[in-house]
Amino acid sequence: MFACSQDGFIAKKEGDNPSLWTSEEDHKLLIENIDRSDWSVMGRKTHELNPKQNRKRVVFSRKVKIIEPINPIIKNQFYFNPDITQWSDFEKLVGLNSKVLILGGTRVHDFFLYLDVLSKIYITIEPLNFKTGIRAFSFINFNDLESFLIAKNYRKEQKKINEKTILVTYSR
Ligand SMILES: NC(=O)c1ccc[n+]([C@@H]2O[C@H](COP(=O)([O-])OP(=O)(O)OC[C@H]3O[C@@H](n4cnc5c(N)ncnc54)[C@H](OP(=O)(O)O)[C@@H]3O)[C@@H](O)[C@H]2O)c1
Repeated sequence: MFACSQDGFIAKKEGDNPSLWTSEEDHKLLIENIDRSDWSVMGRKTHELNPKQNRKRVVFSRKVKIIEPINPIIKNQFYFNPDITQWSDFEKLVGLNSKVLILGGTRVHDFFLYLDVLSKIYITIEPLNFKTGIRAFSFINFNDLESFLIAKNYRKEQKKINEKTILVTYSR
């Protein structure tokens, strides 16, 4: 899941905390989805901007060669480098039947879209235009996402979660 501007940016710039511009309704959805999930997956920068010691996390980073605890005193938070470590090791780490929530940023989104393993994609579109910033995906234009996902057999649903914010859900 991610929240973005109408022009497809997930952050205004490096180090931006989206909670400064996302709606209360999006925040509620984020908390609900985290609570419903066994694990969250994110890039190192997103993790470092929102450290939460009590959450089970897989954090993508090229700093490691094997799956390693982020901090020896924190349980259930691991660095994972998909360039080196195989997908089967990711599955072993989180468990085959686990609910896994992907929390970005850009290249983590790219990775999971390319891997084609997502059953549900939640996109909160806030009524903002950033024009520049950190993009939701790097290998696909945000405006082409819908046709890309429909071609991959996702079904699109869309609803307003407040007067101006839209939640788009793709499921399959
Ligand atoms: N609006 C939203 O819903 C939303 C969601 C997520 C993030 N954000 C925001 O987006 C910004 C961060 O996003 P970002 O894209 O710049 O950074 P990011 O994905 O959070 O972190 C980037 C780092 O993650 C690691 N990484 C990412 N993909 C990898 C891969 N395929 N293989 C190995 N390592 C990988 C690398 O770490 P190393 O440098 O350690 O190798 C890379 O430098 C923040 O401002 C954050 O708040 C917004």
